[in-house]
Amino acid sequence: MKTKIFYFTGTGNSLSVARDISNELGGAELVSIPAVVDGHIETDDSDIGIVFPVYMWGIPNMVVDFVQKLKISSDQYVFAVTTCAGQPGETLVQLQKMLQKKGTDLHAGFAVRETANTIQEDNIFIKIAMLIERNSKITKSGKERLSEMVEVITNKKEHEPETSSVMLNKFGNFVYGMGMSRINTMGKFWADEKCSMCLNCQRICPSNNIEVVNDKPHWTQNCEFCQACIQWCPKEAIHIKNEDPKRRYHNPEIKVKDIMIR
Ligand SMILES: Cc1cc2nc3c(=O)[nH]c(=O)nc-3n(C[C@H](O)[C@H](O)[C@H](O)COP(=O)(O)O)c2cc1C
Ligand code: SF4
Ligand code: SF4
Repeated sequence: MKTKIFYFTGTGNSLSVARDISNELGGAELVSIPAVVDGHIETDDSDIGIVFPVYMWGIPNMVVDFVQKLKISSDQYVFAVTTCAGQPGETLVQLQKMLQKKGTDLHAGFAVRETANTIQEDNIFIKIAMLIERNSKITKSGKERLSEMVEVITNKKEHEPETSSVMLNKFGNFVYGMGMSRINTMGKFWADEKCSMCLNCQRICPSNNIEVVNDKPHWTQNCEFCQACIQWCPKEAIHIKNEDPKRRYHNPEIKVKDIMIR
């Protein structure tokens, strides 16, 4: 059995979960999705994992692009883990449908709860979603579920994609349909005078969205809104409207150099 785990991450939660699963499986190969998404994506591994965050109750654009390009056969076992703040909606069902269109399936899909990584104050959609779903079923972290997930994966068991409640799934699908196509222009960031021009933000951006203009980082309109630049800036020099300084966060087990593998 050979396993390859493809991952997408902004603030490290999904990489941390992917790494834990890899270690528990005895060293499955980890592959960064931004590093391969522009090429030919084919693998002969018997088992394939896809680990990524939930964005607006659905799959991030770059992960959609990756799955569309992935060459895969129906004898390969596919599992996925999506990390979220407790509201995955139908993210994993969306992934299952994409894989079924390619003639294969999502054999096991887990949603795990990690720290919310957005720096902006909660918007109206998040507030409505919290009202719809007061008690999320998704309460355990990747670490808490590690042995359970690895037992399913090792034995190639079937595990239904995990979702939120029926009502939240409907709401989430609606918002995802409206919002995801506009996400690439949502990252209206700027850098203040604390910027030391280390250019970490440029190196970690998965979509090459940061240029240098007049000796300062400058954001263009190809953003995945992954939060990596703003949350990893060593000087806390990057800003966006409605930010809450208390929400500066990146996963404590991951180092900025790990995120630079793009
Ligand atoms: C643009 C964006 C949208 C998000 N939407 C959701 C969501 O719909 N539901 C949820 O539970 N968490 C949501 N989150 C939180 C992340 O899914 C969560 O913090 C995740 O673990 C981040 O993973 P990463 O550290 O690998 O980037 C969102 C985060 C971002 C950046
Ligand atoms: S990571 Fe922060 S300090 Fe470094 S170049 Fe970017 S904005 Fe400036
Ligand atoms: S600009 Fe920042 S938020 Fe947008 S994709 Fe790049 S690193 Fe992520």
